[in-house]
Amino acid sequence: MMSFVRKDANPNPIVDTVFAVAMYAMLDKQENGDLVTDATIGSLFDEDGNFVAFHSVFDHYDALDHRIKGAYAASFLGNPDFCRDVYNWVTQGTELSLAHSVIATPGGSGAISSAITSFLDKGETIILPDIGWSSYELMATQYNINFTHYQMFDGDRFNLASVKEALVSSMNTQGRAVLVVNDPCHNPTGYSLTMEEWEELVRILNEVSARGPIILIDDIAYIDYAYDGAHSRAYMNTFNQFSDNVMAVIAFSCSKALTSYGLRCGAAVILAQKQEAVREAEIVFEKTARAIWSNIPNAAMANFSWVVNENRDAYLAEKQQYIDLLKQRSSLFLKEAEACGLPLYPYKEGFFITIKVDPAKTEAIHEALMRDHIYTVTMPGGIRVAVCSLPLRKTSGLAERILQIINTVE
Ligand SMILES: Cc1ncc(COP(=O)(O)O)c(C=O)c1O
Repeated sequence: MMSFVRKDANPNPIVDTVFAVAMYAMLDKQENGDLVTDATIGSLFDEDGNFVAFHSVFDHYDALDHRIKGAYAASFLGNPDFCRDVYNWVTQGTELSLAHSVIATPGGSGAISSAITSFLDKGETIILPDIGWSSYELMATQYNINFTHYQMFDGDRFNLASVKEALVSSMNTQGRAVLVVNDPCHNPTGYSLTMEEWEELVRILNEVSARGPIILIDDIAYIDYAYDGAHSRAYMNTFNQFSDNVMAVIAFSCSKALTSYGLRCGAAVILAQKQEAVREAEIVFEKTARAIWSNIPNAAMANFSWVVNENRDAYLAEKQQYIDLLKQRSSLFLKEAEACGLPLYPYKEGFFITIKVDPAKTEAIHEALMRDHIYTVTMPGGIRVAVCSLPLRKTSGLAERILQIINTVE
């Protein structure tokens, strides 16, 4: 067949492991009902197995004037009040002294992918965690940008030595480095860096950036489910120590924060010491916006502003119920995993827990679990359990069942 697509497009179809396994789980549920344990979906579900959409978000959204829903946004950068409110929301409780700009994006995905393509040329390499969200790799390779991995963990700690090695190697080969850190509430392990780890990371960024620019993409998609909400942003104060050669792009998402995954809205928060550097990046981001999605849904931005200003207390109270539920589910799974000896990556908070498995056996274990009606998602070196969508009654006893199945796989 004559090919119609551009020469350097990758012709292989997307392999979306989450949606495929979620579909198997759904079919199994139709046949076997309550026998099925579905721990695949990365959205909040309540104890009755219903998708959660916050009343404190959507009652007001439903009542918005049609003209607000229909209108274009005020600018390709986003509505100015939305951008101000996102900055205040993302950095609440911190005292940042950096220059900044906020650009509205279609979810966290838009922020991350525009950051990748704004800071790297074709053929250059981005540094990603070895255990992580697979879309980062697609976002890079779609633009013929390569990726390399740092190791997330050294035992139960964040592997700063591996990050440093990757940064130095990038600097040696391309004179710049772009690093993705998905923190806090890392997908898929639920790890969050300690304050000391952030301080050391910033020290490393400063040291290596003496030789060229470094951009830190901090993906905070799950930050609003951190267990210590009041201090969840405290680590951002370490950014004040950035050298002039370091920039951060914080990728914020309304998807999880507002349970509005389908109402594409998020933002890139650009931070650096120098206003000129922030402005330069902002121009490139704005052009990406204009060239690809033009503008973000006006009503999604208007509603975010209303929720975090006028309806803040009701929203926080509603969200807290689900943070408490996540805590209950994760504590139960962790306690039972410890009791039976099921090995886990170090979980602290968030939507997911990941079981450590022999990489050579991951696929076989995953399939054996499905034969026993347990649906999970494979990760490099692990099996992800989405406690965000797993009711307590399904969580109970699950660790032991999984361990027994793992032990049967040769
Ligand atoms: C780690 C991580 N980052 C970012 C996102 C972006 O989500 P969205 O584009 O819906 O904001 C997700 C969504 O699953 C995610 O898991």
